[in-house]
Amino acid sequence: GAPSITVFPSHKVSKVNRNLYAGFTEHMGRCVYGGIFDPSNSNADLIDSNGFRRDVIEVLRPLKIPVFRYPGGNFCATYHWQDGIGPIEKRPSRPELAWGAIETNHFGTDEFIKWCKAVDAEPYICLNFGTGTLDEAMAWVEYCNGKLDTYYANLRRNNGHEEPYNVKYWALGNEMWGPWQIEQMTQEAYAQRAAQWAKALKLLDPSINLVLCGKEGATTWDHYVLTHTLQPAGLSDLGETQHPLIDMHSIHLYTASADHYENVTAPLAAERNIEACSSLIDLAIIENKIPPGQKRPGICFDEWNVWSPTRAPGSKGAEEVYTLSDALAVAVWLNVFIRQSKHVEMACIAQSVNVISPLMTTPTGIIKQTTWWPYELFCRFMKGHAIAVQVACDFYEGPTRPEWLRAVKQTPYLDVSATISDDGWVSVAVVNMHLDQDMETTFAGHTDCSSIQVFTVTGRDAKVSNMGPNEEVKIQESKWQDKNGKFLFPRMSLVLLRWLL
Ligand code: AHR
Repeated sequence: GAPSITVFPSHKVSKVNRNLYAGFTEHMGRCVYGGIFDPSNSNADLIDSNGFRRDVIEVLRPLKIPVFRYPGGNFCATYHWQDGIGPIEKRPSRPELAWGAIETNHFGTDEFIKWCKAVDAEPYICLNFGTGTLDEAMAWVEYCNGKLDTYYANLRRNNGHEEPYNVKYWALGNEMWGPWQIEQMTQEAYAQRAAQWAKALKLLDPSINLVLCGKEGATTWDHYVLTHTLQPAGLSDLGETQHPLIDMHSIHLYTASADHYENVTAPLAAERNIEACSSLIDLAIIENKIPPGQKRPGICFDEWNVWSPTRAPGSKGAEEVYTLSDALAVAVWLNVFIRQSKHVEMACIAQSVNVISPLMTTPTGIIKQTTWWPYELFCRFMKGHAIAVQVACDFYEGPTRPEWLRAVKQTPYLDVSATISDDGWVSVAVVNMHLDQDMETTFAGHTDCSSIQVFTVTGRDAKVSNMGPNEEVKIQESKWQDKNGKFLFPRMSLVLLRWLL
């Protein structure tokens, strides 16, 4: 039959955490140097007194991105944060082993915190679980958050930052399971270390949120490290504080395929991983007899995006040129986070500038890639609560990546999520991933068609990008065009429909 979408604005499913729109700025390629920090750029108008790119701040700030993860990624594994504070001329240059660069340390903790203030976001710092020590990690937390008359808090003050930074989010290492990782660890060694570090860090500052290093969400690693670090608060020697050791469990996943349908359906594998990971969290709670009053850890999807290092030039395969197909894949990724907002507390697009990013800098300006537009639309409009939505349409039944996806999940041509904001705006994001079929769709659940706003992201064909001479893909705004009570979702498009209840 004809496709149909029915929205149920009064049926709230879960709160959408603003942190779903978090970013990530790693010392990798041109993300930090040349991306957010570019003091040697000869175009003086582009650079502010801190050496930050004004144009980057100007486009990121209005998106109200809540959090930025920093300084990596794989970069963390050899990063000594004390190299990056104090007078710039005294900071050492070091070999950078994750990405094969020289790290000048001209941008460090104080600059990052200043940049976060400039874009009005909170910092999320990933600790060095490679060559770093617990002493260094505790010193970093004390430097950032210390309020007392202690050495590292005073070092921050001496560096000109009287007030504590109150960095709330800290990650216990990055991809520690990966063979590319400096000091790769077994699950047993990692879980043991993570629990010990978490105990010390929370004794130092019980207000912080700690993120455990997971894998893809539904692996043996995820199960093991969850089971061996989730402990009833009392048992971890945190006594009366009642703070659990772990606040979030992280997942990383990148998707991509040269085939359009494989490309746009691949994020649905992340959806399955989120569901499975959530069950693993429950299992760990049951196995460890966590009492009902203790906060249940959520999922921090702290690296996600479309990325295939083999197809991307520059910065070790990280300067992706995104197509319309990729923009639709990003829209499906974001639909997944809205649908799974009950389980996902934070998600960081990897990354925010130049490296695997919707936003590129040139020496003279910025380029918004195709994937910028779904990210912008979701940041602006998909907020408040996820609401129930029912979709009926044909399914894509060809090959998927990964192959198991088709075995465990349906992949409809229309991929949909819906939200209601606190001030009563209903927003429905609809991806028509079909390469050549517009979908005339019965659309129910709204009141007055004439007041529905329509934002469309589409283009000539699946392979167009914005990195050539023209901006091929952007947002077109229009009003609801009624087709005998139906709405026409164009082939290869993201349409966001919006109305005030
Ligand atoms: O985001 C790029 C890299 O991908 C990160 O450094 C690493 O954590 C992941 O493998």
